[in-house]
Amino acid sequence: MKASTEGIDPSEDFSLEELIHRHSIAFRERFGGPGDGRLFFSPGRVNLMGAHLDYNGGPVMPMAVHNGTFIAARKRTDSLLRLATTFGVETHELELERLPESASGGWVDYPLGVARALVSQVDETCGLDILFGGNLPIGAGLSSSASICVGTAFALDQLWEAGLSPEARVQAALWAERSFVGVQCGIMDPFAVGYACPGHLLWLDCKDESLEHLPLDFSEVRVAVVDTKVRRQLALGAFNERVAECREAFERLRVHSAGATCLRDIPQRVLDSHRDELSPATARRATHVLSEVERTFIAREALVEGNLSLFGAQMSAAHRSLAENFEVSVGELDCLVHAALEVDGVLGSRLTGAGFGGCVVVLMRAEACEAFGAHMTEAYRRDYKQTPKMWFFEGDAGPREIPIGN
Ligand code: GLA
Repeated sequence: MKASTEGIDPSEDFSLEELIHRHSIAFRERFGGPGDGRLFFSPGRVNLMGAHLDYNGGPVMPMAVHNGTFIAARKRTDSLLRLATTFGVETHELELERLPESASGGWVDYPLGVARALVSQVDETCGLDILFGGNLPIGAGLSSSASICVGTAFALDQLWEAGLSPEARVQAALWAERSFVGVQCGIMDPFAVGYACPGHLLWLDCKDESLEHLPLDFSEVRVAVVDTKVRRQLALGAFNERVAECREAFERLRVHSAGATCLRDIPQRVLDSHRDELSPATARRATHVLSEVERTFIAREALVEGNLSLFGAQMSAAHRSLAENFEVSVGELDCLVHAALEVDGVLGSRLTGAGFGGCVVVLMRAEACEAFGAHMTEAYRRDYKQTPKMWFFEGDAGPREIPIGN
């Protein structure tokens, strides 16, 4: 999606209330008629531990963030689905009974995929006018795609009074991304959005899909996300390449590990003794995955015991492995990760999302906040002549309806 002057510019700093208010006005301007639409919000997510583990069956520790997707929608009396975004001028019009079989390559594929997943599951549907927008940077590693997909599933569920479970909404979002849009993503992002809980990290074991909410004490710590503003066109190709390399590592090592069903199950000693059966790059990818599984379990234990320094140390070690073994970092990310660690009170710092650009996530003691902002800006301006974008997040409540007028 591209920002346009007629839409909401995600780089501007408006409060959530102001953005929602603007979004309902934009809806009325776009679709006309009486302003009786409903408004929904769906968060993005930041991942603190378990980098590139979801598609390897490992554990992950993401947190939903209070920047996300805005959805304004109104029921129609016919069966027409009209979809528009504040980031562009076109409106897509489709008949609910004749939704397209394949994706078109645009932003509309995401909500359309969700509509396709749900239309066959819901007894009584009706046409809808829907306007999407939001304040989540797109392609920055904060999962704008899961935000729009899970948000659409939530909005359609409410508008069609379908009574879907959170599982059904998350599965519809996953189907849209994997089977309709065609991205071989793991399960982390829609789960992080769909099962969000404020003040908590989600512990998700991607092998059996079991999950738990683990509290993070926000009176003591802060989670910052800093955007390099680097967006790589090649990121999707490079992501799929990593997925393929991990699959290859698993295929070659599974013959030495009875019962293993994913790369996460391969014991370290098997990788150590059969490393020469893998290409050097594939061996490095497997090294990252197995060490990240171990770090993520240590981080979980540290969080439960309140040892946040140990948690932070796992984040920083994860970044080193992402840079050296998984090779998904870039100079801009390394610059921000290292600059963060120079600030007193910073506990850990690493890239978040797939890498190749996007954002870093930083855990710090609350009192480090002030010095942090100034130092990051100085370091990034010095090395890259740019001002980075920064947010502090405390975990979001997940997809919800926002009362109009508030
Ligand atoms: C992307 C994918 C996720 C996950 C991360 C890396 O964000 O969408 O499923 O694989 O990369 O942890």
